[in-house]
Amino acid sequence: MQSIPNRDPERAYDAIGVTYETSCPDYTTHLQDVLTKVTDDLVPGSKVLDIGCGTGKPAAFHFVNKGHDVIGIDISQKMVDVASSQVPEAKFFKADMTAFQPPEAGNYDAVIASHSLYYLSLGQLRMMIYRFSHWVKQGGIVLVGSSLKAEAIEQQTLKFDRRGWAEGVEGSFLGHKFDYTYGLVDAWRVLLQDAGLEVIDVDQRHCTPVGSDKKDSHIAFFMTTRKIVDNALLGPHPVPRVLPDPLSLEYIDSSVSADFEQRIARKEISAIVDLVKNGGYKKVLVIGSGAQGI
Ligand SMILES: C[S@@+](CC[C@H](N)C(=O)[O-])C[C@H]1O[C@@H](n2cnc3c(N)ncnc32)[C@H](O)[C@@H]1O
Repeated sequence: MQSIPNRDPERAYDAIGVTYETSCPDYTTHLQDVLTKVTDDLVPGSKVLDIGCGTGKPAAFHFVNKGHDVIGIDISQKMVDVASSQVPEAKFFKADMTAFQPPEAGNYDAVIASHSLYYLSLGQLRMMIYRFSHWVKQGGIVLVGSSLKAEAIEQQTLKFDRRGWAEGVEGSFLGHKFDYTYGLVDAWRVLLQDAGLEVIDVDQRHCTPVGSDKKDSHIAFFMTTRKIVDNALLGPHPVPRVLPDPLSLEYIDSSVSADFEQRIARKEISAIVDLVKNGGYKKVLVIGSGAQGI
């Protein structure tokens, strides 16, 4: 397989195409087992979004066979073509998940993203998890799959931030170079919970692409979650039931606030206040109004 050095997932997966299935049987068996275990309580006719659907197997194929309506998106046109021919009962579109807007947010019974989130920055990943939660209905399922390179964990060569994330990690997969964002299981758990998703199952096992040596083995994990809030975007969840009292002035370092005061362009704030006053707005939400307010 020809190596593409520019770390471009679209071109890499265009080249990988249907060979993904034969190259990664451990990963597809793992996903199939998780789907069988956790999606049984979806009633036939459920709406499923498959993000980074790959070849359509096993996920879209599994859901279609259970009588569900499946929409799959993938950044690679080749993958969309393969999936469309392997699972003609589902609908597949070429789309970058970060730009994708489903026509019916809040209406899906399940959103799944299996091993398709590595190539996002941490900021984009956070945004996507909130969006998945927004797109699924309350009580619906969000299933995400990711992995960590086993050798890097054993030898502690991956440097995680204090929240358990490592961004821009160079690596290769099936002969293609990528930049990865990796998270420890507990970091994923916190991120999912922030977006109003309760973790109901974690399934972890070692997976190795065919023909790779043991040092390329990954600890793959799927986290199945259920949406337990009505508005994901109001997170991070849980939202405090009682708002804290305003900070007492004795806790504010006056030298810091005086310095800050000097740097504020008061004229601009007055202009905004005038705009709001004269615009006839009734309710105004001020974010970070500071001790003095406006
Ligand atoms: C490792 S494969 C996994 C395929 C499938 N989900 C599975 O588990 O069998 C990752 C897939 O995610 C797709 N992908 C990567 N980045 C994407 C993005 N930003 N938007 C949509 N799809 C993306 C790739 O094209 C590829 O098909």
